[in-house]
Amino acid sequence: MTRHHPLRSTALATGLALAAAAVAVHAATIRISCGSVGQELELCKHSAEAWAKQAGHQVQVVAAPNDASERLALFQQLLAAGSDRIDVFQIDVAWPGVLANHLLDLKPSAGGAETQHFPAFVANNTVKGRLVAMPWFANAGLLFYRKDLLEKYRLPVPATWAELGASAQRIQSAERAAGNSRLWGFVWQGRAYEGLTCNALEWSVSHGGGSIVEPDGRISVRNPRLAAALRQAAGWVGTISPTAVLNYGEEESRGVFQAGHAVFMRNWPYAWSLGQAEGSVIKGRIGVAPLPGDPGGRSAATLGGESLAVSTYSRQPRLATELVLYMTSAAVQKQRALAGSFNPTRSALYQDGEILRANPFMGELAGAFSQAVARPTAATGSLYNRVSNEFWNATHDVLAGRRTPDDALAALEARLKRASRGERWN
Ligand code: GLC
Repeated sequence: MTRHHPLRSTALATGLALAAAAVAVHAATIRISCGSVGQELELCKHSAEAWAKQAGHQVQVVAAPNDASERLALFQQLLAAGSDRIDVFQIDVAWPGVLANHLLDLKPSAGGAETQHFPAFVANNTVKGRLVAMPWFANAGLLFYRKDLLEKYRLPVPATWAELGASAQRIQSAERAAGNSRLWGFVWQGRAYEGLTCNALEWSVSHGGGSIVEPDGRISVRNPRLAAALRQAAGWVGTISPTAVLNYGEEESRGVFQAGHAVFMRNWPYAWSLGQAEGSVIKGRIGVAPLPGDPGGRSAATLGGESLAVSTYSRQPRLATELVLYMTSAAVQKQRALAGSFNPTRSALYQDGEILRANPFMGELAGAFSQAVARPTAATGSLYNRVSNEFWNATHDVLAGRRTPDDALAALEARLKRASRGERWN
């Protein structure tokens, strides 16, 4: 039997202690804050944990509010305080200009990964030459409809807003008369927040009413086409849309549609996989189409989507960047497309048969994505959220019947002029 020399045992013990210390030093915890709309949080957790396991680190997933505007307010508060509590933020396509000063340039560490994503997203996330976030998933406003109800009443998928209004009214009245008393014609996002800006921008552009602030910086809201678009939408409230729509975000409208209580819904792609899930009462009865347009056929979808960004206040910027590169990789984007119908931002994945079979709209409605309308983020830069806030409030006033469209838009123009500090936005 060999006896261990006391010194050797000590050396061994010291070695073990050192090794343990090394692990303790190197096994870091990265905190990522993800959105929580639909399956967002669950899927974020799933892939962040897969990264942590493979990298030998830990992740903590911090839920952010599912209201985009509340999420921005929270992130701005943390970042303005220079907080290191969150390493990785899920940021909206509308925010790079607003948050850029607090986010790391990912380009030097991306190893060219950004070239695999749609160039428009990369351009959107590049502020003053710095790539402040990696694209994660793309959104565009879509019209979800009940195939079975349109078939029952022999109605086509509406091509114009007027047609949508008429079909919604007809089906709602007939179904209610037949005892389906909770059915509504059309649900959408009417709460005073960023989601309403997205909906109202679709109404405006499809009516030829412009996109709030034009690329040259001109404030375009005071025009009869936008006024007509808002008047039309206000007419839906309390007729084909419940009055409660004035307080709906994405999830509230999906809740009504998915319970089988709405004919039409405006929402983002994530609603597809949830509606089609096992146990969903509308599984197999959902159609997806471009949003309606004006009689001339012009239809518009607002461009949405999310990216992942690393905070400049992170104490682990290298690991946080690794996590972002993993989460935005082709493998993870594919898994999210299959499990959650999140549109990839990597163009090659649109050739993937499995993704297209699980989400037929991703191939069929490619135009809705490629021609989606951007919010006026480029023209308004760091002031975008202020502009959007004024726009959604004015829109909400009209929808709630507090102001006429003409009054609301005249007042909005004046407020936006003040916000623009004269002529220039940036
Ligand atoms: C989705 C979109 C985002 C948009 C938000 C509005 O999260 O990805 O771009 O601002 O909805 O509610």
